[in-house]
Amino acid sequence: MRKKIVAGNWKMNTLPAEGVELAKGVAAGRGEVCSCVNFIVCPPFTHISEVAKALEGSDIAIGAQDCATEAKGAYTGEIAASMIAALGCKYVILGHSERRQYYGETSETLNKKMAQAYANGLTPIYCVGENLDEREAGKHFDVVKAQIEEVVYNLTEEQFANLVIAYEPVWAIGTGKTATADQAQEIHAYIRKVLADKFGAAADDCAILYGGSCKPSNAAEIFAKEDVDGGLIGGAALKAEDFLAIGKGF
Ligand code: PGA
Repeated sequence: MRKKIVAGNWKMNTLPAEGVELAKGVAAGRGEVCSCVNFIVCPPFTHISEVAKALEGSDIAIGAQDCATEAKGAYTGEIAASMIAALGCKYVILGHSERRQYYGETSETLNKKMAQAYANGLTPIYCVGENLDEREAGKHFDVVKAQIEEVVYNLTEEQFANLVIAYEPVWAIGTGKTATADQAQEIHAYIRKVLADKFGAAADDCAILYGGSCKPSNAAEIFAKEDVDGGLIGGAALKAEDFLAIGKGF
């Protein structure tokens, strides 16, 4: 049985007090959603500590949105995986398209970040996905294959057993444009095949999340697909009610 996951990527939104309110709202309504759904919230670094306190006693996990390539030292402005782990994070989003696009993240840097995440007991939520030009040119399969081969293929079997993948077509992120459930299923199944080519049957246990304008009105249809194991939610994760409603999509 694969894990069902609904993860909220708050991106660079909320002030600390707002983040705490949001987290409390999610915790307050969590009981209305199947306990089979694993909720994760990923606040900005600055609120992780306070959000963790607000979520004490709940089953909602916390993730960070990124981590440094290095363990520690003279890297001004960076946040080490050990630091976020010490605050109570269990997950870390790595390779989000906004980081690849705006901050020049490459497979080379992501390999280092993955190593740091695992060295500190964090489960990476590794993001893949094509942009609009690549989709229109029919290159989306090749793009996600390369993103997986260049990073995920370097993991050990033990590390792979502790990995979540998020497929997020760049053209659907924050645009209101969602991949259809069939488009999501098609590429999720392909991703699972690419994973199976390297890791065999273990690929069946890897949760693959869909991300990109996922909301209460479309979550159920997308989550109903065989190879879709949940969602990585941006905009709709900023309202507790919507985030919880997405969880009810299972
Ligand atoms: P969105 O973002 O739900 O606002 O489209 C998803 C993401 O980037 O993780």
